[in-house]
Amino acid sequence: MIITIDGPAGSGKSTAARKLAAALEIPYLDTGAMYRAIALKALNTGTPLDDPDALTELARDTRIELDCGPTHVRVMMDGHDVSEAIRSMHVSEHTSAVARVPGVRQVLVEKQRTIGRQLKSLVTEGRDQGSVVFPDADVKFVLDASDMKRAERRYHELLADGEEQVTFDEVLENIRQRDDNDRRQWAPLLAPGRSIRIDTTHMTIHEVVERLLEEVRNRQAAEAKVLSAKS
Ligand code: DC
Repeated sequence: MIITIDGPAGSGKSTAARKLAAALEIPYLDTGAMYRAIALKALNTGTPLDDPDALTELARDTRIELDCGPTHVRVMMDGHDVSEAIRSMHVSEHTSAVARVPGVRQVLVEKQRTIGRQLKSLVTEGRDQGSVVFPDADVKFVLDASDMKRAERRYHELLADGEEQVTFDEVLENIRQRDDNDRRQWAPLLAPGRSIRIDTTHMTIHEVVERLLEEVRNRQAAEAKVLSAKS
């Protein structure tokens, strides 16, 4: 079973995806981590962020290995652990420039489909998982929340990760800028057919996961009914 969860930064999709995958005992794929890893490498190697060909070549030449567990996401880039480095504000600010490049997307989408084919069952989260990468997914969710709420969640995550210099206003500004970029790029994609939209602004993470689980179980029950009618 392939389950996609798409949504903007801070919509709660990463935590929800991780917890849903743990509850269903299937793997979880954090596709944002892949874009972040390419952005980090571009920054580290001085690759110009306005050179699509150079960024595409960089993406092609980069080995990304992900270990997405129920409580952690470990990201190896060319053999180095970059799990923490890819979460910095600096990388967050520059990732959308990299994610905008069609060649980079092509390389990463292909990697994601390969992972999907190998695993067969997974919860995958990003922006385009239900629309572009896995259009035939069994259950597709789109999560959203107000920008204030999303900034609040992101701010607490950054503090927990030890980023003490950052202020709430900076995080809110960063979320709004990324929204502008994302909206231009993703607005048409965030409503793939058959998707279930959930506004998480006033929901706890526990409530979100319960809601997702309920939908997945409904889907599993409907499939079981179809199968038993056929036999
Ligand atoms: O979900 P996130 O904050 O880790 O995503 C980081 C960046 O990568 C963000 O700018 C959106 C982009 N992204 C994307 O373009 N496509 C995806 N499937 C996942 C993330």
